[in-house]
Amino acid sequence: MLHDGAHRMHHDIERILFTESQIAQRVRELGQQISQDYEKLLGEKIFREPPIAVGLLRGAVIFLADLARAMPIPLELAFVAISSYGMSSSPGELRVVKDLEVPVAGRHILIVEDIVDTGQTLAHLQELLNARHPASVKICALLDKTPRRARAVKLDYVGFTLTEDAFVVGYGLDYAERYRNLPYIAALKQSAITT
Ligand code: PRP
Repeated sequence: MLHDGAHRMHHDIERILFTESQIAQRVRELGQQISQDYEKLLGEKIFREPPIAVGLLRGAVIFLADLARAMPIPLELAFVAISSYGMSSSPGELRVVKDLEVPVAGRHILIVEDIVDTGQTLAHLQELLNARHPASVKICALLDKTPRRARAVKLDYVGFTLTEDAFVVGYGLDYAERYRNLPYIAALKQSAITT
């Protein structure tokens, strides 16, 4: 069955930027490093008040699912969803469409994001969380895509850096809600964007 959806999906790919095994390897490394850092920072307290990994819906779901399982420490999971107003409004206008369910005052937060592009989303989330007085806020981004950065954000952990302005999909990243379930990260063909 070659002319099914899977074949079509892979056909839209220009080239693979990070393979499934490269991602798996990097996620394992990140998980180890982040865990060690929190163990050092929190000591015994890690059992009473574990860090909270906050994933941004929807793109970060797949990365967070793998990263959390690569972290051999107590960890809580939480999710937020942040969206731009409308489709074509100015990129600075963001709103929280799903807030955290848990209070974060005094807690250690690890924001987990799939990609940082302009930086607007993370800057907005950081402001929002800092206003609630957490003990610390760190950021882990799988992809640091630098060419369109408009807001400076300090990334504590980065999976891969992307210096070209390619339209990337896969491993959580979408184009028009599709391709999130590709197991690799790839640049999308121009023809797939315009048709
Ligand atoms: C994407 C991505 C980041 C954000 C990065 O989310 O998941 O959250 O854009 O862009 P920025 O640095 O320019 O703010 P999107 O709004 O596409 O939603 P999604 O997570 O549902 O894909």
